[in-house]
Amino acid sequence: MEIIWVDGRDPELFRRFYEVKFGVRREELEFPVGLGVEEARVLMAGTHADVRAEGIGLVEGDDWLGVAWLDWWLVGNTDTVDVELAVVPEYRRRGVASRLLDVAVERVRAEGRRIVSGTNLAGDPVTGESAGTAFARARGFEKKHAELHQVVELPIDVTALERPVDGYELVQWREHAPDEWLEQFVELLSGMSEDVPTGDRTDEPVRWTAELVRDAEARRVAQGRFTYTTAAVHTATGELAAYTQMGGTPETPERLNQYDTYVRRTHRGHGLGIAVKAPNLRAIQTGPAVMHTWNAPENAPMIAVNAKLGFRPVAQRTIWERVL
Ligand SMILES: CC(C)(COP(=O)(O)OP(=O)(O)OC[C@H]1O[C@@H](n2cnc3c(N)ncnc32)[C@H](O)[C@@H]1OP(=O)(O)O)[C@@H](O)C(=O)NCCC(=O)NCCS
Repeated sequence: MEIIWVDGRDPELFRRFYEVKFGVRREELEFPVGLGVEEARVLMAGTHADVRAEGIGLVEGDDWLGVAWLDWWLVGNTDTVDVELAVVPEYRRRGVASRLLDVAVERVRAEGRRIVSGTNLAGDPVTGESAGTAFARARGFEKKHAELHQVVELPIDVTALERPVDGYELVQWREHAPDEWLEQFVELLSGMSEDVPTGDRTDEPVRWTAELVRDAEARRVAQGRFTYTTAAVHTATGELAAYTQMGGTPETPERLNQYDTYVRRTHRGHGLGIAVKAPNLRAIQTGPAVMHTWNAPENAPMIAVNAKLGFRPVAQRTIWERVL
């Protein structure tokens, strides 16, 4: 058996790596999610301000047995490396994931980082348990957080949900935040990073800057992704009070994602969450698709808003950490 490092620059090698990674997701999840092959390759091969990604494969002859995807955070959480393990079903319980994890841990130690974090995507929606959680426990990881994976079939009739909130106007944009809103949008993104429930995770909120926003936007464009943002502006003060973002890729038009929704602390309690989500949904939904979102089970207000839109839980993802 041979260990192969993958950096995304060799498209054929990357395709083999990706087939294992996404093949396992397809196998494990009723509603598989994740970047398409080219989006993932661009992420791995490119240079980005916030993250560096690399891959490890365990290969026997021409057969790929399993892979690990490593995310090295460069902004916030710079002590942590996220590792996603995927093993081809017929090679399981033969120590493949353990071997890949050992190689990853050795690298993490060599680079002076302290925490290995892993997300188990395919937990049962109620218990959160799966092969991945059994593996994580067996390899000394501690459970730190959970998120409910929820889906809704589109299109849905949003008319009944679209309620303007007195004193606020909506603004919408696509791939780039307009210059006039950029500074305030940076504040809201940082607020989101501070306020989103992260359970017991080792989590250092990201201090967003205009440069980081532009870098993230450029990466999404390079990946071929599209993003729809709706924000609410407090008319009297000109303050950007709330925003929501949804997006996807033409590679998988049947799969859309609900990303952040955030209401500035001083503007909560007015129904701004649904007030930005409903029109954003109206803008993005053009045909049949499934929209995905994730929320901490304790984030009751957000889950209530999602339930109003018709979202239902399909899996529980859990986040694990091992301190080296
Ligand atoms: C989780 C996963 C990566 C494990 O891969 P693997 O190569 O079978 O794992 P290993 O053979 O190294 O298992 C090591 C130990 O983990 C535990 N373990 C692994 N799978 C298990 C299962 N299905 N049930 C119970 N315990 C399990 C056992 O203690 C095992 O040791 P043992 O076989 O000597 O009893 C694999 O099942 C998989 O790809 N699952 C889907 C994707 C996923 O959940 N990834 C994890 C997210 S990071």
